[in-house]
Amino acid sequence: MPAVRIAITRSVSPHIAECELTFRDRTPIDYARAVAHHRAYEQALEELGCTIVHAGELPQAPDGVFVEDAAIVLDEIAVITRPGAESRRSETNSIAQVLRQYRPVHFIREPGRIDGGDVLRIDRTLYAGRSQRTDDDGIAQLRAMVTPHGYDVVAVPFRGCLHLKSAATYVGVLLFNPSFVEARLFGDVEAVAVSASEPDAGNALRIGETILMSSSWPGTRRLLESGGLHVATVDADELEKAESGVTCCSLIFEA
Ligand code: GLY
Repeated sequence: MPAVRIAITRSVSPHIAECELTFRDRTPIDYARAVAHHRAYEQALEELGCTIVHAGELPQAPDGVFVEDAAIVLDEIAVITRPGAESRRSETNSIAQVLRQYRPVHFIREPGRIDGGDVLRIDRTLYAGRSQRTDDDGIAQLRAMVTPHGYDVVAVPFRGCLHLKSAATYVGVLLFNPSFVEARLFGDVEAVAVSASEPDAGNALRIGETILMSSSWPGTRRLLESGGLHVATVDADELEKAESGVTCCSLIFEA
């Protein structure tokens, strides 16, 4: 049977304005607009061939829409994280319930902490950003779980932003902000630096041959397109006020 591309998402909490913020100032979030941006995002994923699977609603979890942080999904297993922010720990059980249908599920245990947003995969290497959310214990537990499946885990430093994937994502090339992270840490991959006026543009999502990114970053979009890459955009600025990027709102894998 041909593989199905699943995208797990979760609806936006009416309490999203109470979300965690680390590097961003709090500004009012228009809930209806955030919901509209999230719907458009799900629609874009569907147009790119994903089947949306909704995780259980968590209206009381302000950051629950950012499902990426609750798990790291590989071809062989799914690792359920122990999020670094205590307010986000209630988000993982409902994600585990969904993922159990598709993968053997492993759990990061106390006292380790790791957010999925800090784990960037390139081929068989998982780059794990050391951050306020992800510590050495969490990274060591992740390593013990994935090494038997042939993955290396490399801890990388970064600065100035919430998650490693706020600084860099891999979309066939490494899209990165040089003020946040050094490209050389990711080995010998082609790298494209974000437009200097768009520091948060390093977060993009590759689905098939298309790179999905926020319409907030037109300069970086042009840089990618000038390199022959195919880019689609979604409006995401209302969700960006909650310190998110396009990878944060889904867990995408083949089943
Ligand atoms: N508001 C996203 C996070 O802090 O996890």
